[in-house]
Amino acid sequence: MTNIDIDKIRAQFPAIAKNSGPDAPVFFDNPGGTQVPQMVIDAITDCLINANANLGGHFTTTQKAGDIYEQAHLAMADFVNARSPQEIIFGQNMTTLTFHISRSIGHMFEDGDEIILTHMEHDANVSPWLMMARDHGLEVKWLPFDTETYEFDLDELDKLISDKTKLVCIGHASNMTGTINDVKDVCQRAHAAGALVYVDSVQYAPHGVIDVQELGCDFLICSPYKFFGPHMGVLWGRLDILNQLELYKVRPAGSESPDCFESGTLSHEAMAGVTATVNYFAWAGREIADEHYRTRYADTGNERRQLICAGMHALSDYELPMTKRLIEGLTEMPGVKVHGITSSNALARRVPTVSFTAEGFEPSDVSAKLAEQDIYVWDGHNYAIEPAGQLGLMDKGGVVRVGLAHYNTIDEVERALKAIAEHLTR
Ligand SMILES: Cc1ncc(COP(=O)(O)O)c(C=O)c1O
Repeated sequence: MTNIDIDKIRAQFPAIAKNSGPDAPVFFDNPGGTQVPQMVIDAITDCLINANANLGGHFTTTQKAGDIYEQAHLAMADFVNARSPQEIIFGQNMTTLTFHISRSIGHMFEDGDEIILTHMEHDANVSPWLMMARDHGLEVKWLPFDTETYEFDLDELDKLISDKTKLVCIGHASNMTGTINDVKDVCQRAHAAGALVYVDSVQYAPHGVIDVQELGCDFLICSPYKFFGPHMGVLWGRLDILNQLELYKVRPAGSESPDCFESGTLSHEAMAGVTATVNYFAWAGREIADEHYRTRYADTGNERRQLICAGMHALSDYELPMTKRLIEGLTEMPGVKVHGITSSNALARRVPTVSFTAEGFEPSDVSAKLAEQDIYVWDGHNYAIEPAGQLGLMDKGGVVRVGLAHYNTIDEVERALKAIAEHLTR
């Protein structure tokens, strides 16, 4: 197990630190949203006390709010390795931002053009594009995943791509199967045909280093509340493409990115929290990660980016043995099926979002039983209706979804496994 000081990590999170002992709540609901470190709460509070004003005035609080706005763009630019903070667009959440930008992107296409969606997506990376296709007369093609391996066969993608393909929308990691997709390869194949790629990184962002330049995508979107920050969405777009988009904005708003895409007044307090969230990963890179992680990212842009990468990498390495134990424990239980990659030597190809069903048991009963013991997990389709449909789980109550994060412990995994086993043998 990667040697990290887990007590030091847990002490950062008041929601975790306020309860201790064997009956403390177990936060395995992370795929739906994570707990927040004190430094994020402090930044939000500080903004509301000292910078609670709109942007663009001459007085102190408005100027402080302006600094918060600027710092948040710089922080997220470091988080995803953007070329410029102008490529960072803040919004309410991933879904709202995707609906918003899809309206602009749609104007790039013509009747008869094609887009490719996949059956592994959260619906926020499906419905906006279906509506865009409807509005602009586009044909939608679907990429299925292999229900044995829970991965895509990218030769199948090649078969779908044509000279009419304009856009491929793909999840970085699935919120149901947990699979991490080879986004870089998808981008290369799509770009060879002149198509753009829109990447949903919402499930990936809490668990891995994001480098939009290395991935080679055109858009990438994530939600800070899934990676230990406040409720917001953040879209990265390649500036040369953003500059070509049709704008849906009020007339007085600026016509340059990001201003032209960030409709109305944003939550400045949440933006302050997002900067602190990014700095939390940098803190982990400095205080938690071993030296070799920092050395590995020594040539990475600036110092904060280096520390973010080192921190994220160390934290995700710490997650691995917990994921392994959780999957092993579940697969050993009679009648239990994990819907995702289970092979212990392939765990690097998945995030620790683990979905399972148990023969003869309703997913909602299992999660309700766990809740009685203060073990928080999700059940149902969790808006992943495409994968739930492909796996034949839509009319069976979906799955039980256990999602780990780096502040969890192996003892919590054991507690959940014991509780699940007890319920299933009743
Ligand atoms: C993979 C994935 N994409 C998109 C979303 C939607 O995110 P938001 O709540 O920020 O709209 C989620 C939320 O669970 C998700 O897991």
